[in-house]
Amino acid sequence: MKDFSSASGKTILFGEHAVVYGEPAIAIPLPQIRTTARLYDNHQEFRIISNKINLNKSYKELDLSSGIYRLLTFLKDYFSFHILPADTLEINSNIPIAAGLGSGAALSIAIIREFSRYYEKPISVEEINRIAFEIEKIYHGNPSGIDNTTISWEQPIIFSKSKGVTKLSSDLQALDFLVIDSGIYSKTIDVVSDVRSNIDKNMPFIKKIGIISNKSVQALISCNKNEIGELMNENQFLLGKIGVSCKELDEMIDFGRGLGALGAKLTGAGRGGNFLLLAKDHQHAIMLKSKYETQGLRVIL
Ligand code: MEV
Repeated sequence: MKDFSSASGKTILFGEHAVVYGEPAIAIPLPQIRTTARLYDNHQEFRIISNKINLNKSYKELDLSSGIYRLLTFLKDYFSFHILPADTLEINSNIPIAAGLGSGAALSIAIIREFSRYYEKPISVEEINRIAFEIEKIYHGNPSGIDNTTISWEQPIIFSKSKGVTKLSSDLQALDFLVIDSGIYSKTIDVVSDVRSNIDKNMPFIKKIGIISNKSVQALISCNKNEIGELMNENQFLLGKIGVSCKELDEMIDFGRGLGALGAKLTGAGRGGNFLLLAKDHQHAIMLKSKYETQGLRVIL
């Protein structure tokens, strides 16, 4: 039996930003990168520790407006604890932070799953998703819910605000995606709010992104690599139009296309973070990976 819980990262293949305005988006979990949460008895008071973000505090010492404090307070009430038990919650993660890979949602979901495991109270996936969404609102203001939904289900999904989640049956193993870190960090909340402040100008592009997401479903199900690649390139062009790409990302994306990538686009909020490439096949992916690494970039997958 495992003595910890975990949650994966995620990447959006199509439809980021447009999903905030009700358009569909396609996202997949990244099970190779994960946040883990482990509770154990410390016989003193509830503490939370994370070496990654230099955190070692008791519950009482946490910033009252932080997502983690709000989540722990929620869970305390949810589990009917008068005070949180004398346990340590230890967090570890290899998901890059503020990089469009769902680190915030993964943190919440790993903690909720660990509370459920350790204090022996089963929580349904729907309920985990609902709680994580409340915490996402603290991090992102007005999130669509795609990050927490993808990570709660840990399956490829089609997501829209009105229709919720539909599982996508696509043989992703057959598709050689690369996820590459631009090394530039940006805050989702800022990028989302900039798109909103120009919403009249951006709306026609957002609608077109929705059309691309819809078209991509069939291409993904049939693993039509050329079409998926073309749709990624069109999606990237439209993301540029709504102002969420940036010069550095454009250059890194062009570099991959110049090396024969079938498609390339940013993923998540943009203005940095990670970008995706679709390689022709496994050998091509290895070549692309080494070319980017030679440029000093971190290839996550
Ligand atoms: C962030 O991962 C995706 C955005 O579309 C924001 C959201 O959906 O809440 C940029």
